[in-house]
Amino acid sequence: MKGRIRMILDETITLNSGVAIPKFALGTWLVDDNKVTEAVRNAIKIGYRHIDTAQAYGNERGVGEGVRTADIDRDQIFVTSKIAAEHKDYDVTKKSIDETLRKMGLNYIDMMIIHSPQPWKEVNQSDNRYLEGNLAAWRAMEDAVSEGKIRTIGVSNFNESDLENIIKNSETVPAVDQVLAHIGHTPFNLLSFARNYNIAIEAYSPVAHGAALDNPVITKMAQKYNVSVPQLCIRYDWQLGMIVLPKTANPQHMKENAEIDFEISEEDMDELRRVKPLDYGDADVFPVYGGKM
Ligand SMILES: NC(=O)c1ccc[n+]([C@@H]2O[C@H](COP(=O)([O-])OP(=O)(O)OC[C@H]3O[C@@H](n4cnc5c(N)ncnc54)[C@H](OP(=O)(O)O)[C@@H]3O)[C@@H](O)[C@H]2O)c1
Repeated sequence: MKGRIRMILDETITLNSGVAIPKFALGTWLVDDNKVTEAVRNAIKIGYRHIDTAQAYGNERGVGEGVRTADIDRDQIFVTSKIAAEHKDYDVTKKSIDETLRKMGLNYIDMMIIHSPQPWKEVNQSDNRYLEGNLAAWRAMEDAVSEGKIRTIGVSNFNESDLENIIKNSETVPAVDQVLAHIGHTPFNLLSFARNYNIAIEAYSPVAHGAALDNPVITKMAQKYNVSVPQLCIRYDWQLGMIVLPKTANPQHMKENAEIDFEISEEDMDELRRVKPLDYGDADVFPVYGGKM
């Protein structure tokens, strides 16, 4: 069993920057700083090699401690963090990168991502896409790459025009765009746009933040393959070529989620592509699920 998990967790792709990234990550949103160290250590013990955090999660310190104290060399682990969505200025972004390094206690971060093109309080509320502000943040990130503080840089929640702004007006094509992507919400147009520029897509909330767990269509399909709903959801994103970042602090779930070495048939993928949008329940207040702050 361990070998099967390892094959998935060790799989990498090479980003447009030439940096290799493990395709399977541990998500850490809503895992408290005082619990996340153990979660990261457990994940690494199981075989995870990619950890996803953010300045906004309030757990960079704990994630850094988990990475530093894991029983494996630092260069075997890919660490991603995200520039707070409110930072749309060169100096503020530059300072925040140094702060991330300090909090995590690391000499470098593998990848930093602009968390959102708009500050959270404007998401779903304003047409201002902060084109200049994102370019200013991007330049600070490019400079941090030159200084060896970050290995590669990307974005999150960027639409096609947000991406075009960076591509046309900077030296660096984003290596990734981390976006909401799960059964019931698959960004097909963005996936083909990204393919044209060799931008990797990272699927966040692959289990729909838990909303997929009790969906009857998804449950029925999972039963057909004799897998759990999270396994089917993660495999769906994986088969569409995305990097996946399921979140859990539960070691049993970590193991289960990586057991996705089965194949969903093309016919069933088509059925899953057509699943209607899911109900996020109480989580729909978050801007990433359409809510407003
Ligand atoms: N860039 C962005 O704006 C953005 C936005 C959202 C998320 N993200 C990233 O994507 C990651 C994942 O997204 P997410 O946290 O929204 O949700 P998710 O991974 O889609 O779902 C997490 C939920 O599924 C449950 N779960 C996971 N594995 C399970 C299993 N095997 N059996 C039963 N339940 C299981 C978790 O419960 P347990 O904890 O009990 O296992 C949790 O309630 C985040 O942690 C973050 O790193 C990024």
